[in-house]
Amino acid sequence: METIVGIDLGTTNCSITAINEDGKTRLIKNKYGEYITPSAVYFGKEKNELLIGKEAKEKSNTDPDNLVLFVKREMGKKKDEVRGENKGFAPYHPYDFWEKNWAPEEISALILKQLKDDAEKELGTKINKAVITCPAYFGDAEKNATKQAGEIADFEVLEVIPEPTAASLSYAALTKKNESVLVFDLGGGTFDVTILKIDNSENGRTVNMIATDGDHKLGGKDWDDYIMSYMEDMFEKKWHIELYSEPRNLTSVMYGKLRIDVEKAKVALFKENTNSTAITIEYGGKKLTQEISRDLYAQKTSKLTEQCKEYCNIALKEAGMNWNDIDTILMIGSMSNCTTIQEALKGWSGKDVKFGLINPKTCVSEGAAIKAYILEGGNTVKIIENQNSHADDFEQSDEIKKEIDKEQVYGKRIEQKFNNEIKSVLSSSIGILAKKDGTSFVYKLLKKNMSYPTERKQVFRVPTDKAKVQNITVYEGESEKPENCNLLGTVELELNGKLSYGEPIEVTLIKDRNGILQVEAIHQQSGIYIKSEIKRENGLSENDVKNSANEMEELWLA
Ligand SMILES: Nc1ncnc2c1ncn2[C@@H]1O[C@H](COP(=O)(O)OP(=O)(O)OP(=O)(O)O)[C@@H](O)[C@H]1O
Ligand SMILES: [Mg+2]
Repeated sequence: METIVGIDLGTTNCSITAINEDGKTRLIKNKYGEYITPSAVYFGKEKNELLIGKEAKEKSNTDPDNLVLFVKREMGKKKDEVRGENKGFAPYHPYDFWEKNWAPEEISALILKQLKDDAEKELGTKINKAVITCPAYFGDAEKNATKQAGEIADFEVLEVIPEPTAASLSYAALTKKNESVLVFDLGGGTFDVTILKIDNSENGRTVNMIATDGDHKLGGKDWDDYIMSYMEDMFEKKWHIELYSEPRNLTSVMYGKLRIDVEKAKVALFKENTNSTAITIEYGGKKLTQEISRDLYAQKTSKLTEQCKEYCNIALKEAGMNWNDIDTILMIGSMSNCTTIQEALKGWSGKDVKFGLINPKTCVSEGAAIKAYILEGGNTVKIIENQNSHADDFEQSDEIKKEIDKEQVYGKRIEQKFNNEIKSVLSSSIGILAKKDGTSFVYKLLKKNMSYPTERKQVFRVPTDKAKVQNITVYEGESEKPENCNLLGTVELELNGKLSYGEPIEVTLIKDRNGILQVEAIHQQSGIYIKSEIKRENGLSENDVKNSANEMEELWLA
């Protein structure tokens, strides 16, 4: 088996872990010797001035208009839907660079190509295959876009798996218990809550998802936005200058600087033994320095924290559980470093939440590597040195270390056998466009949080007499109204005028173990039949992906 990789393609930060034929994992360092690569792409004036990662992110202070951050939030959108929603901070505009309008998949591909490059340099071997992670509630369109980004970066993408599943695999590699785990993943751009069961079966450790919920617009960026707004309000109070009026007074460079300062202040605020930090905002020779305490931070962002609680409750309800049924809460995503969030979670759950059971920043790529290994036929994973326990400034508290010693498994030479059956659940319902009393609606066949592989059948009636073709249109979402759902694609069933009004067609929606969605339709008597994979209607075509991959390769060589 060749060396394969697992990639955590985050909204703000990425990491990559390789796994070799012996099942040995290795967290990869980038060219700065760091395990974490910021998801930032900077388009300099010339093609050889392309920057990816840390140096790109630093451009937010000087040239934010040519910088793309948070591209993950745009995944699954068409090029012309990309507008960005971040005032004064890229992407504020469509991705127009070097006289080309870039698709979100292509920007993500640049990041993935950088990670691939780093791994190849460190390991001295070519890497072809990867498992990439995405938020659990990513729908088909976003998942597909993530897969295509991997293909453009010249990976063979074995699978796109949910981040919490990956985190749980990383955790399950280090533990022995059968338990119900709630993964609380608060990252830079997204919040995911997922309930999983880890069991020991004859074939090894099994990790199965039970329910998931979340929001792709609830992450560190939003906490930062709230504090930025607070800074602007305080500035206005002091100087009577409205900074966020239209046209904006703050230039994008000032905004970029404020964002960086607010983020830095947040990280400083939640360092051990710190209770307060200061942020300075300057405009037109006027200056405000504002002290922010942990209490004030919690108060100003409580609405967002409250939203996390609501998503937890929904996921528990969907799983038919309550907090008492959860054995372990795994807090991952770097926003989980915020003690205000740790305390809030302790409050709602009534549980002794332990932050730092695994490294919140690197466990996802490690789990993705484990999954890649299992997919390629491996089963016994060896975490020789628990890199996750110390990578990227991550320090386990003494309390956690004690807990770990009790289990006597962490941080030691671990060999763990995994079962290759890992079940995921659907993050959204999937249905077929149908008509009732003249009104179109989406008839849900596969329901949210159903575990897959799965399939469901339903008989529909032909709406038109002697039609040539019947479109079977598939939507994803919780609403019955097609306009509130995502169009996944259409399959054309050839009828050739053979069927009369009202004749039955049996339609089956199939979600296979790789997450691929298929439609099967049959009219028994006439032998009319089709079975077809649903290809994303709004996405890039196979040709687009090929062309982009070639373009990317040329760019890399430039
Ligand atoms: N020590 C820290 N204390 C508080 N917040 C932090 C700390 N380190 C990073 N963050 C914040 O965590 C967020 C990034 O988290 P993370 O790296 O887990 O996100 P991500 O994986 O890129 O995002 P996502 O999983 O949403 O796609 C940023 O908002 C960052 O400011
Ligand atoms: Mg993440």
